[in-house]
Formats: sequence, C-alpha cells, structure tokens
Amino acid sequence: MTRPDDAAATVAAYLADHESRDLLRFITCGSVDDGKSTLIGRLLHDTRGLFEDQLSALEKDSRRHGTQGERIDYALLLDGLAAEREQGITIDVAYRFFSTARRKFIVADCPGHEQYTRNMATGASTADAAVVLVDARKGLLTQTRRHSYIVSLLGIRHVLLAVNKMDLVGYDQATFDAIAAEYRTLAASMGIEHVSAVPLSALEGDNLIERSPRMPWHAGETLLEFLERVPPGDADAGAGFRLSVQWVSRPHQDFRGFAGTVAAGTVRPGDEVVALPSGRRSRVARIVTADGDLAVAARGQAVTLTLADELDISRGDVIADAHDAPQVSDQFAAHLLWFDAQPLLPGRPYWLKIGAREVGASVTEIKHKVDVNTQEPLAAKHLEMNEVGVCNLYLDTPVPFEAYRDNRELGGFILIDRQTNATVGAGTIDFALRRAANIHWQHVDVDRAARARLKGQSPRCVWFTGLSGSGKSTIANLVEKRLHAMGRHTYILDGDNVRHGLNKDLGFTDEDRVENIRRVAEVAKLMTDAGLIVLVSFISPFRSERRLARSLFGPGEFVEVFVDTPLDVAESRDVKGLYAKARAGMIPNFTGIDSPYEVPEHAELVLRTLDVPPEALAEQVVQRLLEP
Ligand code: ADX
Repeated sequence: MTRPDDAAATVAAYLADHESRDLLRFITCGSVDDGKSTLIGRLLHDTRGLFEDQLSALEKDSRRHGTQGERIDYALLLDGLAAEREQGITIDVAYRFFSTARRKFIVADCPGHEQYTRNMATGASTADAAVVLVDARKGLLTQTRRHSYIVSLLGIRHVLLAVNKMDLVGYDQATFDAIAAEYRTLAASMGIEHVSAVPLSALEGDNLIERSPRMPWHAGETLLEFLERVPPGDADAGAGFRLSVQWVSRPHQDFRGFAGTVAAGTVRPGDEVVALPSGRRSRVARIVTADGDLAVAARGQAVTLTLADELDISRGDVIADAHDAPQVSDQFAAHLLWFDAQPLLPGRPYWLKIGAREVGASVTEIKHKVDVNTQEPLAAKHLEMNEVGVCNLYLDTPVPFEAYRDNRELGGFILIDRQTNATVGAGTIDFALRRAANIHWQHVDVDRAARARLKGQSPRCVWFTGLSGSGKSTIANLVEKRLHAMGRHTYILDGDNVRHGLNKDLGFTDEDRVENIRRVAEVAKLMTDAGLIVLVSFISPFRSERRLARSLFGPGEFVEVFVDTPLDVAESRDVKGLYAKARAGMIPNFTGIDSPYEVPEHAELVLRTLDVPPEALAEQVVQRLLEP
C-alpha cells in the first residue's frame, strides 16, 4: 500500500519534473558564416508562425521567473556572470525564447569569436543540449573542436551536429555522412554521450521543422524533433537531497527559515539533515512556501526549511541528506577555463564563488593545460585567455561541494579578480584533494604575544616596495641600524639575498615573482610571530601580491613603504649596471623596462627619494614605527 506521504512525494516529484520538462535550454555554437543567425532567426520565426498563441503565455512566464530569481535558471555560473553584468561588464550572450505545443525553449546564442570560453561558459552552464553548427562545404573546423570540448567540459550530454548549407553541396548524402562520422568520433573522444546529426539548410528551411523532400535519404530526425526529444534537466543529478542556502529568513523571533532551491533529491518534514560545512545535524520541521507548507519538496522547487534544532546556518551553507551528504574540503582538483586578458598565475589570490558562498582561493598548481583542438595535455606555468587547465586549488575556508559531473550546481564555480571584481575564470570540480585535510594546527603554549612581550616591542612587517635601484635596501638598512641602536629586535629580508637561498629556484617571470613574494610574505609572517620587526625589501611589483602579504597581518602590523624613485632616476644611477644590460636586451623581464611596476595606491608611507637624503627618509620610517 502506498503511504500518504509517498503519494505526496510522487505528486511533488511529478510537478517538479513537469515544470522542468516543459522547458529546454540549449546553446548554439558556430559562427555567423556557418549560418547561425539564419538558423536561429528561422527557428524563431517559423515556430512563432506555428504556435503564436503559446507566445504570450511564455512571455508572461519568463517575466515572472525573471523577477523571482529563484529557479534553477539562475544556476551557479550564470549567477556569477549575471552579477558581473550588473557591474556593467558586457557579456556577449543573447537569450531568446520560443515555444512549440510540446515545449518552451530558451536558446543561448554564444558568439564564437575571441572571448568564446566566457560566452560559452555563460550559455552552457545551464544548458541541457547544444546545437553545433558546421558548414557542409567546410566540414569540421578548429572552432568546432574547441566548442565541442567546452560543451563536454560543461557537462552537456546531448549534442546535435547541424550540418548546414546542404543546398550548396547539392543535398549530397556522402558529404553529410562523412562529416557526421568524423564528428561522432570526435564527440566520443570527448565523452559526449549522445550525438545526433541532421543535414539541413537554414536558408531553405530543410529539416529544420519539417522533413525535407530534397533529402529523402535522411532517416533521422529534424532539428525541432531533436529539440523536442532530448530530456531537459540534469537527469542524472544524484538522488541525495541538497539545498544551497540563499538567505536566512528571520521575520520574527520565533521563526528561522533557510531559503533556497532544492538542488537535488527530495525532502520531507522529519527527514534527518546535516548542515555543511559545520556538520551539525537536525531534522526538517517544516517546508514553507508562499502557497503554504508542503509535505515534500523536490529538485527545482524554491522553499524555506525550518529545522527542529537551532543550528547556526548562514548564506552559502548547504543543507543535505544526513545519510548522503556532499563532501567538504578546502582543496580540490578542477578543470579551469580562463577568460581574462591577464593570465592566471598560480599563487595569486582570487575570490572563488561556489553556490551562494564566496571564499578566498588560489591555484596551487597547474598540472597541465589542455590543447582544446586535440585534447592533448601541455605543460603550462600560467593560463592565457580561452585556455583550459587542470589545476589544484586551495581555499581559505572549507566548502561543501560535489564533483561537477554529479551536480552542476555544487560542482561549478567562478573565480573573481580581487581588484577589478571581474569574473576571470570558471571551473568544474573533479575531486577533493584530501591530503591537506589531515594537517592540523599544532598547538604551542608560548604564543606570539608572549614572545613580543619578552622583546618589549610590537612586531611589525615593514614592506619596502619600489623599482630596482630605487633605494629600498639603502633605506631599510638605515632603518635597521637605528632600530638596533634603540634595542629593537629586527631582521631584513632583502630580495637579492633571499634569491640566493630560499628562492634560488625562482627567476623573474610574472609567475616566479608571484611565488617569490608569496614565500617571503609567509617568512615575514613567521618572523613577526617570533616577535621581530621585519624589514622586507623586494621590488614586489604587483598590487595583488602586496595585498596578499598585507592580508597575512593584523591591523596596523603591516606598514607598506613605497620608495618612490622615478624610473629615469633609478636608471641613471644604475648602481648594479643592470638597467644598461636590460636596455641592451641582455636581461629579459626587467622591472620598468619590459615588466610592469604597479604603483601602490594605499601605502602607509611614500618616500620621495629625489629631494630628501636617505637618512631623513629612514627617520620618517622609524618615527612611524614608534607611533603607538
Ligand atoms: S621581485 O620583483 O620578485 O620582487 P626582487 O626584489 O626579489 O624582485 O629581486 C630584484 C633584484 O633582482 C633587483 O634588485 C636586481 O638586482 C635583480 N634582478 C635581476 N634580474 C632582474 C629583473 N629581470 N627584474 C628586476 N630585478 C632583477
């Protein structure tokens, strides 16, 4: 016999399923030359003609959903990029809506040029299917391979190869068969599960909506038949219940609810759930919606849960089935798509947004990048725009997640530049790296305050930055002499010296400089823990890494000193003869010559070396350090 709540579950699951079954999201890839605009235009026009009456209803619907902002529509990657759109950065993806008697459709038209990974990640992250367009006269092109690779990476399982312009090859079956066969091999190598191929002419309308009498040899489906057939939704999303908390609703003292959209599985009152990352358990008390309480909620439904116990849960936490919960980790391996003109540099801190959570993160290692034409692994030290890399990432805080292949919402993330706030990359999580989870902080009884007290001083990190030959080391040396004479405990970390030991494996590429600064910042941090006043004298040309260094210290502990010497002056002094060599092309990547120096914007002290002697400048630094 069916228990009543089972019946309710069936109904809810049916409704949720029906809701998503109604709507297919797909992307189109290809260029204007392939006839993409014609294809989309024709599809919109012809379906509009056929199903005019459906249209007003759909438009009403999408308006409603657009303002509700709580459907699966606004899944992870899109969400992040939508935030970016609000910041006024243009994204080149156009969404169009149409419908037939069977279904509603949202097509994301992703331009295939320059910024193709960004556009495709935007369009594809929520798509159920992809239409890959090729010109029958040209067959598969490099861009066909690239687009298909991104499609496979973003977890789209259903691909239609649309071989367009069949009219221009005399509707020749052999031409179509050869292209289709080659594409099936390609798709299989990328792990795309379901491939269908249709010969068509967007211009003539052949095999778009109706079967073409000019290609009677084509036994397969039409474009529209494909679109009406493929299953929408992430059909394989795991069964365990997951809800990513979008906000905590606390209208009055006695009500505390956790609102979000069910990302997977079903939930009922009484179910045992776990809140992540805390790991605290409770039971679901109520499932609240605007239309009253529910006996059960399923994937895709926006609900507010209340729990039997008072748990400390905040935005971005995940509430999950206690017996089948996602993992929590601060390190994982992922595929990363890089969008930005500035390359991805390992060690550089970014913001990582996963679900409703934003945490600090950096790439610890690029294992390799992927040649998107051949899928060959290639060695890489950084990722350039449109490149894809397999990377290890390290987060400041553990987050709940799942492999992207199991759950797009909990397995996809974006990376955000900390200075410009631009979305610079998107990633799909492959698996957690567990090693770090087994390393804990070792407790020590004598702490940093105790060590500082014994030395009778407040530890500081005084960070001198400026061009080579600006006078950093000269001034740092004078400051140390003065402090030493005053009985202070100090140490100088100088770029040239540290590069003879700890950092002797590093050169002067951007990525090596990032690592150079990361290491010395960590060392400076240890030294302040030991109670010292540390004077760091490194060019440290990038704002991002100076900011990273600052972030390791408490308020007031980090004193950034910009040794402001104009390039022409540093160059004319040329104490070490390096500028002359750099100008002669003998030293590549020389700061100020062919490698940038980013002037500090918020330095605590700016020392203008032009008009003031070093002794007086050193005195300024000392005075600043003596301030309480
Ligand atoms: S940083 O940019 O990574 O912070 P760092 O301060 O460690 O540089 O080292 C800079 C010193 O290395 C310079 O003072 C100079 O003596 C030497 N040097 C050698 N090659 C270069 C180069 N390409 N650019 C800058 N400095 C260089």
